[in-house]
This record gives sequence, C-alpha cells and structure tokens, in this order.
Amino acid sequence: MNNTLIAPSILAADFANLQRDIEMVNNSDADWFHLDVMDGVFVPNISFGMPVIESIATHAKKPLDVHLMIVEPQRYIQTFANLGANVLTVHYEASTHLHRTLQAIKAEGMQAGVALNPHTNIDLLRDTISEIDLVCLMSVNPGFGGQSFIEHTYSKVKALRKLIDEKGASTLIEIDGGVTNRNAAKLVEAGADVLVAGSYVFGSQDPPATIAGLRELI
Ligand code: DX5
Ligand code: ZN
Repeated sequence: MNNTLIAPSILAADFANLQRDIEMVNNSDADWFHLDVMDGVFVPNISFGMPVIESIATHAKKPLDVHLMIVEPQRYIQTFANLGANVLTVHYEASTHLHRTLQAIKAEGMQAGVALNPHTNIDLLRDTISEIDLVCLMSVNPGFGGQSFIEHTYSKVKALRKLIDEKGASTLIEIDGGVTNRNAAKLVEAGADVLVAGSYVFGSQDPPATIAGLRELI
C-alpha cells in the first residue's frame, strides 16, 4: 500500500442531502474533498460557488481541494482562501500570468495547483513545475461528471512524472475525470498521487465501500 490520496468529487453528491454526503466522506477512507467550481464560460456548465463551499467547509473534516474551472481565476484567490480552501487549482488555459497566480495562491497560505485540459501538453509546465504543488491532469474534458476516461492520460502521467523527477520537484499528480476501479491501479503505477472520483463513488450503492475498494486497489 502506498500513500495515494483519494478525493471524492462533490459535484456528484446529492445536493439535497449535502450534509449527509459530507459526513459520509468524513467517515470514509477518503483523504480530500474535491470541489468543482464552474462558471459557464470557461466550461459549458455552471456548478456551485461561494455559499455552497462555505456550507461544505462548516462540516468538512478533511482538506478542501478546490478546482476552479473559471476564467480569470486570479480574481478569486483571496475569496477561496477565506472560505477555507487548502489546495486551489487554476487552469493553465485560463491563466495569462500563471507564475504570478501561483505566487498569489501560496501567499494566501494555500497549496497551488494547475489543471491541464486533455489537449494541453505537460511540457508547457517545464518552467513553472518547481512552483507548483499539484498538477491536475484532466482525464475528461472539464465541465461534467460521469464522462469516459481518456486513455491518453496514462502517457501524460508518465511524462509528467519524468519532468517532476528531472526537476527534483515535489509536485503531486492528480487525475480528474472518469476514475474507476478499472483504471485506478494503472494510474498509480504510471505515477499518480491523487485520484478524484465523482460518479464512481456517489453513483454506487455503497459509497464508503466503493472508496474502501478503491483504496485496496492502489
Ligand atoms: C469535471 C470535474 C471532475 C468531475 C469528475 O469537469 O473536474 O472533478 O467531478 O467526475 P467523474 O469522476 O464522474 O468523472
Ligand atoms: Zn475537478
């Protein structure tokens, strides 16, 4: 057993029973809460924002991993710090001044993450990798839960692992989208450190058992 982290994505929770689902994650083998913020501009969907995250933070007993799928994410860094985000991830594709944004996230006491869309090459992080605490590799096109895993992700994980090791960085590799028991072990073998799972966990009959099952595999 290694120390791979499991981050259930609350996008797939039952919003009418959000406290129940938060407590489920609190009491499970999961490590983080993955919170997807979508603005309907960067991605073609709108999810939830500050009031919902504020309520989640009241009940959550594990770190909040906030994934911003929004344009101009740098405008909201302090807001998410105040809400209690532990990891704040912005998209490479939405960041004109990525280096400055990373510094600003860290200055607010959070871990700085960068997400890459499936079409974005990991070599674009060559000059910033030492500044990045977490790279979120999108293994689906962002915007929706429940999509199919893109197989090309394995080679991206391997290439990113190589880059991180070459630079002597301690960056975590997170995989987001379509993670299930069918790909979890292979992703960890390729070099993944954090697995996000939404519909696989919350769409199952017994979410805590599903999380425990995933834990067994990695
Ligand atoms: C997709 C989101 C994911 C999503 C994953 O845009 O970033 O975090 O919730 O959901 P599943 O695991 O259902 O693909
Ligand atoms: Zn996400």
